[in-house]
Amino acid sequence: KHRIDIATPLLDWYDRHRRDLPWRAKPGETVDPYRVWLSEVMLQQTTVATVRPRFTDWTRRWPTFADLAAAGEGEVMAAWAGLGYYARARNLLAAARMIAAEHGGRLPDTEPALRALPGFGDYTAAAVAAIAFGRRAVVVDANVERVVARLFAIDVPLPAARKPIRAAADTITPAVRAGDFAQAMMDLGAAICTPKRPRCLLCPLNHACAAQAAGTPEAYPVRKPK
Ligand code: ADE
Repeated sequence: KHRIDIATPLLDWYDRHRRDLPWRAKPGETVDPYRVWLSEVMLQQTTVATVRPRFTDWTRRWPTFADLAAAGEGEVMAAWAGLGYYARARNLLAAARMIAAEHGGRLPDTEPALRALPGFGDYTAAAVAAIAFGRRAVVVDANVERVVARLFAIDVPLPAARKPIRAAADTITPAVRAGDFAQAMMDLGAAICTPKRPRCLLCPLNHACAAQAAGTPEAYPVRKPK
């Protein structure tokens, strides 16, 4: 039944409702890989509301990879204060220096090459490949996990569900507008397909959602009873 196209109604919804975030290029603008990378690292364990002003301050101070690469570790760690998980800041600086020294000041543009940089896991490599470079990549964070678990009513409990969720996400990921698709899934998870009381009536994918058809969207993703 999931031959129903997911990407088209989702991208149409995104075009109407996309959040204006400082790391997102506006329609017609060029995407800056430095800003995409920085935002994805900041957003890994920190909310959009917290990241927004911090991202703006950071990019004013260090607008490019080269600027960041030239910064001292002490000032970078101080600028990270309050964002938590300081290894992320250390990796950010290490990666910026590597990009400046070994990659001509540009991020590599494929998932495997990105994964070789400090601080890049599966999520970050996929997100940057899709959003910064338009590469088809399966981008799954906690919000996307919930959206996909509901769309397909994946009955396996987490963490075992991660594998079928990725496989299902792969089947709905389009080859075009990869970055918009990834961010549309994130925005849908944040605004509509929320953990509690999802707004299914407003959802552009409700016609294709197995959990909504069953009347039990909140039951997904399934967690093992304690
Ligand atoms: N969370 C992680 N990456 C994001 C992005 N690009 N847009 C919105 N929320 C996000």
